[in-house]
Amino acid sequence: MTDKPEAERLDDRSSLTLSRREFVGFIGATLAASACGGLEQEQAPSAPLLAANPFSLGVASGDPLSTGVVLWTRLAPEPIAGGGMPDEPVPVIWEVSRQPDFYGIEAYGWAWADPDFAHSVHVDVDGLEPDTWYYYRFRVGAQWTSPTGRTRTFPRPGESPVRLRLATASCQNWRHGYYSAYRHLAAEEIDLVAFLGDYIYESGVQGPVRDHDGPRPKDLDGFRNRYGLYKSDPDLQAAHARCPWIFTWDDHEVKNNYADLDIPGVSVDEAKALRAAAYQAYYEHMPLRIPAPDEPADMQIYRRLQFGDLVNFHVLDGRQYRTDQPCNDDAGLACGEEKDEANTMLGAEQRAWLEGGLRASKTTWNAIVQQTVFASLNLGGGVLNPDQWDGYMVERQRLLSVFAEEGVRNVVVHTGDIHAAIFATLHRDANDFDSEVVGVECVTTSISSNGLSESRMPSDLIRRVMNNQKNIGYFDPDRRGYCVCEYTPEKFTVEYKSVSTVESREAELSVDGVFEIKRD
Ligand SMILES: [Fe+2]
Repeated sequence: MTDKPEAERLDDRSSLTLSRREFVGFIGATLAASACGGLEQEQAPSAPLLAANPFSLGVASGDPLSTGVVLWTRLAPEPIAGGGMPDEPVPVIWEVSRQPDFYGIEAYGWAWADPDFAHSVHVDVDGLEPDTWYYYRFRVGAQWTSPTGRTRTFPRPGESPVRLRLATASCQNWRHGYYSAYRHLAAEEIDLVAFLGDYIYESGVQGPVRDHDGPRPKDLDGFRNRYGLYKSDPDLQAAHARCPWIFTWDDHEVKNNYADLDIPGVSVDEAKALRAAAYQAYYEHMPLRIPAPDEPADMQIYRRLQFGDLVNFHVLDGRQYRTDQPCNDDAGLACGEEKDEANTMLGAEQRAWLEGGLRASKTTWNAIVQQTVFASLNLGGGVLNPDQWDGYMVERQRLLSVFAEEGVRNVVVHTGDIHAAIFATLHRDANDFDSEVVGVECVTTSISSNGLSESRMPSDLIRRVMNNQKNIGYFDPDRRGYCVCEYTPEKFTVEYKSVSTVESREAELSVDGVFEIKRD
């Protein structure tokens, strides 16, 4: 097989005739180149004196609604050594303003930072103006003030915004690199970041660029320290302070390729304890609008968020409810089990929730925010990564049939997981790339995690084969970066961006590919 020049290959792609959506193709190629506790208005109790800055992990916001957003911080003067806080609840004051100098406070209150939740604070602010940018900060006593974060509310359902700019990111292995990608992402004009999984990596101590804080976490303290390490990074903190994020997780927040309570070499009871520790630490470090978990081994994070009449975000959990990967989870030749009807990525309840949500959605676009690659990458059914949707073919086909229904509009799947940038068309018949296009998938490459070229896999061969598969518009496994997407009432655009290096905090940014699709 010969490798065609990039420009010619991309021209080929742009001339594809797609039955349902117009594929505009590659444009501008540069390949070379709730407040938990605390009552508003009531004066906060006095806080203990803290000898060191408790805001070492920065601030974050997430899960925006039209009148509210979740504000987050965690008090941790010693973030990789247990936090370093006294073993008592500490009152934290929060303030929201339209001005960066906080001249004019729009909302304020206080909340307990509870040692049971690692002195994290989740404030679910309500009563804000729709479609409005705000600044927020936290204070402990008169002594310590957090960095300032910037966040926004969504337009109301029924309002028709002219655009939404969304960045997607995933896979930020600390050991493999600096977050030079986040340094650039933090300067983007974006409304929202969707994080698609592998916020931490559980395994490995020493790395080619940076070292982990210690061996694989086995308990809650271990996971807290691991999040403390990752969230200490200044470029990650800057990206969080830039705008609100929405999150889902993938496997490395617990253990590589786990499925429900199936973790190789670990009993079900041990798996449950590990999952409870991992999930609780996840909750403690993310601005999620979910209740503080009583039973963290079972923590529902699939949920839906709506940006006016423009986009519905259906956020999925493809780990907690899935059946074990088929074919012994061995990547390679398919074994037939991938076609088993019992295989499920989502579990029956979540799948029904997704199908119902897609059918009921009235927005122009339906964005599915999830973990593993949805498009068929299985080379005519012969090769399999059983951890992806290729290992759950019957359930995928069922969802594609829903995407194809009259009334289900403009599906865009946002994916992370495999440390490669991919643009793919999704077809009514997953493996018939001449069948009707019923959606597109944008896979963002990793922020820092190694790609194929750092593995023993034949990177060049895989790139060539994938770029010749008809449903793949773009496949690049060798760059680290992120996507910037723009949703408008007329079209969806995705830019694939990458950094020149992750071996230092400073890097050049390039735009490697731009794809655009028009709405139905
Ligand atoms: Fe990853």
